[in-house]
Amino acid sequence: MLGLIGGTGLNQLAGLEDVREHRVDTPYGEAAAPVQVGRFGDQSLAFLPRHGRGHRLPPHAINYRANVHALHQLGVESIIGVAAVGGISAHMAPGELVLPHDLIDYTWGREHSYSQDGDVPLQHVEFAPPYAPALREALLASARRQGVGLRQQAVHGVTQGPRLETVAEIRRLGRDGCDIVGMTGMPEAALAAELGIPYACLAVVVNWAAGIGQGGIHEEIERFVEMGMDKARRVIEGLSQPAEA
Ligand code: HPA
Repeated sequence: MLGLIGGTGLNQLAGLEDVREHRVDTPYGEAAAPVQVGRFGDQSLAFLPRHGRGHRLPPHAINYRANVHALHQLGVESIIGVAAVGGISAHMAPGELVLPHDLIDYTWGREHSYSQDGDVPLQHVEFAPPYAPALREALLASARRQGVGLRQQAVHGVTQGPRLETVAEIRRLGRDGCDIVGMTGMPEAALAAELGIPYACLAVVVNWAAGIGQGGIHEEIERFVEMGMDKARRVIEGLSQPAEA
């Protein structure tokens, strides 16, 4: 079963059928919301809104350990994390759907590992690359079949939020090699790695990052959120179709 963690603009998954809700209690507390297990296209899928129902939780207050563990307890075999991001590089314009291949973690103070309190043996989990190559390939193939444009090379900078960045911070991220910037990509990806679950991120660019283009969040953001999330949904739906010969 595929696990899908939705973010801003994807707090509900339209088209998920035969839904059963699972309130999962984990050793790390409760997930942000009951997990909805159902059929999406031709595949079974477990959907969890990262910020909770009605988008209650800001990025730094999300219980990432409980969210990822809840999907693990339900037996998901891979996880796609959908995230709204800002564009830094020239070709990362609002409305683009992006499949990052690498990340830089700028977050701090988040419960970011299962081997924290001695409850899980210490493991220095491999994280290069942070996103599962086979899952990325499957998403790229699905995007091609569905006729959805998907940018396949990007470094995802993950900041603490909830505030947006300063112009100097975005300049630094650009110098570091970041192409896009979001607030929720970590520690989610690393926690999946600790549990041995292949993870990929589908990022929807919803604004230019601070100091780039017109920069900042403006009225058009809703249009880009809707446009990008619709693309993400189509790519995920197409995952269940057989690969071309
Ligand atoms: N910065 C950080 N996170 C974001 C942004 C941004 O510009 N847009 C959407 N998520």
